[in-house]
Amino acid sequence: MAGPVAYGIDFGTTNSAIAVAYDDGMTEVIGTPDELTESLIYLHRNANRLVGQDAIRAYLTTGNSRTMCSRCELVDWVKGEPITDCRTCKSGGACFDARLIAQAKGELASPDFHGTHSWSLDFEIEDLVSIVLSRMKKAADRELGTTIDRVTVGHPVRFAGAEGAGWRDRQGLGENRLRAAAQRAGFTEHVSLMAESKAAVAVDGVDDGILLCLDFGGGTFDVAVVDVHGNRSQVLALNGVSIGGEEFDAKMFDVFVAPTLGLDAEFTLPNGEKRRLPNELSGKLRSLSGVNDLMSKNLAAGVNGYLAGMGNDAVLRDISAIVTGGSSWPLFKAIKRAKHDLSTSDVATIDVRSAELTFAIPVTRSAFDAAIAQDLREVELCIEDALEDADVVPEDVRFVAKTGGSSLIPAFIALVDEQFPDAEHTQMDPFTSVVSGLARHAYEVWAS
Ligand SMILES: Nc1ncnc2c1ncn2[C@@H]1O[C@H](COP(=O)(O)OP(=O)(O)OP(=O)(O)O)[C@@H](O)[C@H]1O
Ligand SMILES: [Mg+2]
Repeated sequence: MAGPVAYGIDFGTTNSAIAVAYDDGMTEVIGTPDELTESLIYLHRNANRLVGQDAIRAYLTTGNSRTMCSRCELVDWVKGEPITDCRTCKSGGACFDARLIAQAKGELASPDFHGTHSWSLDFEIEDLVSIVLSRMKKAADRELGTTIDRVTVGHPVRFAGAEGAGWRDRQGLGENRLRAAAQRAGFTEHVSLMAESKAAVAVDGVDDGILLCLDFGGGTFDVAVVDVHGNRSQVLALNGVSIGGEEFDAKMFDVFVAPTLGLDAEFTLPNGEKRRLPNELSGKLRSLSGVNDLMSKNLAAGVNGYLAGMGNDAVLRDISAIVTGGSSWPLFKAIKRAKHDLSTSDVATIDVRSAELTFAIPVTRSAFDAAIAQDLREVELCIEDALEDADVVPEDVRFVAKTGGSSLIPAFIALVDEQFPDAEHTQMDPFTSVVSGLARHAYEVWAS
């Protein structure tokens, strides 16, 4: 009977997955296909750390509770002054007892982001990522009844933010941090990295010719141009751009939710001056990771206090509900659900029903398509650049294989159909084709 020898891990911006490689070269994704592990990390001041659905469940019950700095066991108060290692402590302050971290992958290549701090603890970005990797490792080890400490982890061709001048340094930083996170997660023997779009190139039904592999995920779009000859394939070019489904969710917030909540409202100060919400606040409200940032900095509370009673308190109440009232998760979940619905129907509803925020906004596919049109143009250019790098003209492309959740968006499918009208188009499993390829690569590394 074949024995397990190595893992492949796809640490995604939105979803993560793990697959095992056996010593006969076969691979298997661990967990059922409808059990995607969302790349969400729950941190609690009591040292509890959770991932995916467990993280969401815990956050929904504990996300609102706070501890006043005046009563915090991490602080000694001497003559009204705090003595503590906690960098968020302040006189009259408070902090949330739990945090939900989203899109940690998006920070891996950011030289200015080293991590986050809460409850007198520093969480390095490598630690945050390793929480996800180690949960998946433990679950897989448990299922297989053994401990596997070799892994191939996928990385985007260009991490989010690793574009423009000096991109190689930032890309290198992202890859080094990812490798360190895997080591911290217990992969002591062997950690190898592989480009995600390259991992997905083993496409059924492809014979000799140029294959274009397109991985459109939550954070990035990645392309591999591959020359396939029998069972050998040579990667001619890789390219990528930081555009993905999480940005589309944010665009849906901008186009549909922000106007409904009145986020462009004017506030009239006692001296008659007009104010709008500061950009720092409204810019962060458009994503779960931005809202988490606002929560940890307590920025919204300050702004709300300052603008309260100046004509638009309903707007401030809704912002509080999102930032401090636990409505952020239901809101972004509802946006995502509506976006997914638009992949199969022309109309959908952003339906939010939380204790403090309730609304239903009808949305249309054509309005969504208009909101993401510029992003899709960049995706198209990214493909063109990859072909140019590979010295391949579009007419030479025989096969186009698509993967990643955002590859299900009809406007993207239409764009690729138009770009390559004569090629054979394949939709691979959007959530498992990359991780299976990573496990295959892990096997090759292990067997060599
Ligand atoms: N039916 C659908 N229609 C449109 N978008 C979808 C659909 N299903 C999933 N998505 C989107 O796909 C994205 C997740 O895809 P995927 O799991 O491939 O990304 P990821 O691997 O986590 O991200 P990345 O590879 O960019 O780091 C999310 O933004 C999700 O909303
Ligand atoms: Mg992915």
